[in-house]
Amino acid sequence: QSGFVTLDIGYKNTGATKSAITFLDGEVGILKYRGYPIEQLAEQSTFIEVAYLLIYGNLPTEEQLKAFEYEISHHTLVHEDMKKFFDGFPSGSHPMGQLSSLIGALAAFNPASLKQGLTAEEVNLEIIKLIAKMSTLVSWIYKKSLGHPVIYPRNKFDYVTNFMHMTFGQRTEDIEIDPVVVSAMNKLLILHADHEQNCSTSTVRIVGSSDANLYASISAGISALWGPLHGGANQAVVEMLQKIKEDGGDVDKWVAKAKDKNDSFRLMGFGHRVYKNFDPRAKIIKKACDDILEKLGVQDETLDIAKKLEEVALSDPYFVERKLYPNVDFYSGIIYTALGFPTEMFTVLFALGRLPGWIAQWKEMKTNKEPIGRPRQIYVGEVNREYTDIKSR
Ligand code: SDX
Repeated sequence: QSGFVTLDIGYKNTGATKSAITFLDGEVGILKYRGYPIEQLAEQSTFIEVAYLLIYGNLPTEEQLKAFEYEISHHTLVHEDMKKFFDGFPSGSHPMGQLSSLIGALAAFNPASLKQGLTAEEVNLEIIKLIAKMSTLVSWIYKKSLGHPVIYPRNKFDYVTNFMHMTFGQRTEDIEIDPVVVSAMNKLLILHADHEQNCSTSTVRIVGSSDANLYASISAGISALWGPLHGGANQAVVEMLQKIKEDGGDVDKWVAKAKDKNDSFRLMGFGHRVYKNFDPRAKIIKKACDDILEKLGVQDETLDIAKKLEEVALSDPYFVERKLYPNVDFYSGIIYTALGFPTEMFTVLFALGRLPGWIAQWKEMKTNKEPIGRPRQIYVGEVNREYTDIKSR
């Protein structure tokens, strides 16, 4: 009753999750997927190859990758009745609310996923279906937001090209997808693919630990990612940069606001639960920003404001003492904007990138036959009280 609990030091009771998928060192700023440095994967791999690595544990052979891509490309169509959901969403409803509903609904269209004791092959089929159909549904959310007809997937395209074709293509004509855009999208999706036991991944694991189906577990992860302190930060960063731009670009004023305890304003895209050094992903995205905007011939004043903001903040003791550095969300939205996406789509793009990581973590938890999640608590409330009649309260 003193409120102190002696924790068993065995990992089982420390609350720490044991995982072999992603390693990150927040003090030094290291991030590795299955032992491969994120810098190498971002420069040399593709999103689908990284998805294979995260989910199955090794880089695929040429044959394995071809089979994986073939399976995915042949499951990108969704049941036509899924379109009826779009008739129900109010126009302007947030894409993350739509996406979590649509992914949860996929369980209804894939009843086999509800069976208990699925074989490894049966689980794998649901994994393939989910990766395939999520890209279609994300592009359809965007199309529906414009009142445009949805575009169907084409098997001749690779995963990312197909996604860009469905998102920016037109029924009336085939568009050329710029290889620069495809390469940029691959890089961004790779950089978001997994990140150890963050808020949304922990959500996926704990929902999955109750034996809820894969679609329900991922739908819960999407809802957790929606929060502006988590995945929603990429949208909040660009909205913040636009506000600073409209305010005449006075960066010093906004940095002062972020430091003011009486002001609820925070520098979005800054700070991290684990990284107390530069987020390695932010470094890669910042460099990619310059390359991609130059190649696409895009001028974006918010990039200059972001760089100035970073410079001012990182020379300010408030941020230095608290080890607040730019995180993955600080520059990503600038590239998404240059690729043609509106801010409301940024967080669903984060979800599309994080999908293989969520799936890999869910699969690992199932394979390890982990018990149902049950976080412990230290009770600090009232101990003994007697009920009293309402008249005497
Ligand atoms: C992601 O966990 C992951 O891995 C997540 C993620 C992933 O890939 O899954 O990396 C993706 O979510 C990145 C984070 C995106 N969120 C933002 O950019 C929102 C802005 N950042 C903050 O809200 C905050 O930094 C958090 C939520 C990210 C981290 O919060 P912490 O670790 O709990 O830090 P804190 O709130 O305890 O802050 C410590 C101090 C406080 O000041 P003091 O009380 O010590 O005086 O730093 C201050 C905070 O006020 N602070 C900030 C700040 N972030 C922290 N002050 C101004 N601006 C900020 N952005």
